[in-house]
Amino acid sequence: MREQAFSGDPALTPIGVPLDPERTVSALDRFGAVPMPNLAWTPEVERATAHLYEKVKAIIPPVEWPFHAPYVKAINDLKKQRNAVILAHNYQTPEIYHCVADVVGDSLQLAKLAAQSEADILIQGGVHFMAETAKLLNPDKTVLIPDSRAGCSLAQSITAADIRLLRQRYPGVPVVAYVNTSAEVKAEVDICCTSSNALKVVESLGSDRVIFVPDQYLAKNVQAQTKVKIIAWQGACEVHERFTAEDLLRYRADDPSIQIIAHPECPPEVIAVSDFAGSTAAMIDFVKTKRPKRVLLVTECSMADNVASETTGTEFVRPCNLCPHMKRITLPKILDSLVYLKDVVTIDPALAARARRSVQRMIDLG
Ligand code: 13P
Ligand code: SF4
Repeated sequence: MREQAFSGDPALTPIGVPLDPERTVSALDRFGAVPMPNLAWTPEVERATAHLYEKVKAIIPPVEWPFHAPYVKAINDLKKQRNAVILAHNYQTPEIYHCVADVVGDSLQLAKLAAQSEADILIQGGVHFMAETAKLLNPDKTVLIPDSRAGCSLAQSITAADIRLLRQRYPGVPVVAYVNTSAEVKAEVDICCTSSNALKVVESLGSDRVIFVPDQYLAKNVQAQTKVKIIAWQGACEVHERFTAEDLLRYRADDPSIQIIAHPECPPEVIAVSDFAGSTAAMIDFVKTKRPKRVLLVTECSMADNVASETTGTEFVRPCNLCPHMKRITLPKILDSLVYLKDVVTIDPALAARARRSVQRMIDLG
């Protein structure tokens, strides 16, 4: 649908459907061209970024900072010039998360903050479904993703046609979609959820059966907490499905006092041997409030780096699986996004209206 929207002929837009400005006027025409900034490591760059280096010096060695700092300064200057904000997911690397992001959070927090933004341009430090969610909630703003190939194994595991078939097979059963889905899928379902509100969303529907897509593990983890019968799609997160209970039990045997905290996209056996499970934001809160001496974060690697750089007195043990999609977003690509205003996220307005209903219904649950 993204490709169709890019190449779509505005003249063919159905009557009654408002034209999407992104399809008729290029972002550079709307906001104007700017030159690529000078990216030399100079005393001025060093001075201007010194306070930011303080935030990441526990993670980024001094020898690497001269490579990041010119991008950090250029991005922060251009953000002001273009009235742009960067929304960064908790899995972005520390130089993005701590040095150029304006808002950081889990999927639900980013969606809510995107809906409140006053900026003209939103840049998504995260994967494509997150950028689409930002666009759904901000149809009049320009939403950019620095690399539109930043996908997600969950979002790729299900299509809108699959949802239509599920509805035929289970007539009348409401469908909940994890936000890790495309706008086309969101347009077909009754409501969205994130890892922080999945149980609440499932129970809000007043039905004894619910179809839950696409994460089979999140579905099972919710099933363990509710009487509602969950019919699950068989998708999985390629990062979290690799963790095993045996690995975690080995860490526990080495140090019985270690706190193991896991993301609910992990298989139920992993959650069963963990001390706490929650969204990425809930995991961060756990570390910041409980201040364990040693903690094992069962999730994507960068999050431990991000929390470790602002937490003292906690040792982080990292079994560490990288999300290759999140890692497509880098400082040079964010700078390109700001200079060339790419990649613009577009969603067909009629489809966006249907998808927005599912996201908004979730947000309205509170
Ligand atoms: P959160 O909503 O918990 O940040 O999870 C998003 C995600 O993609 C985790 O893999
Ligand atoms: Fe998708 Fe998993 Fe990457 Fe999250 S960590 S974006 S669920 S592939």
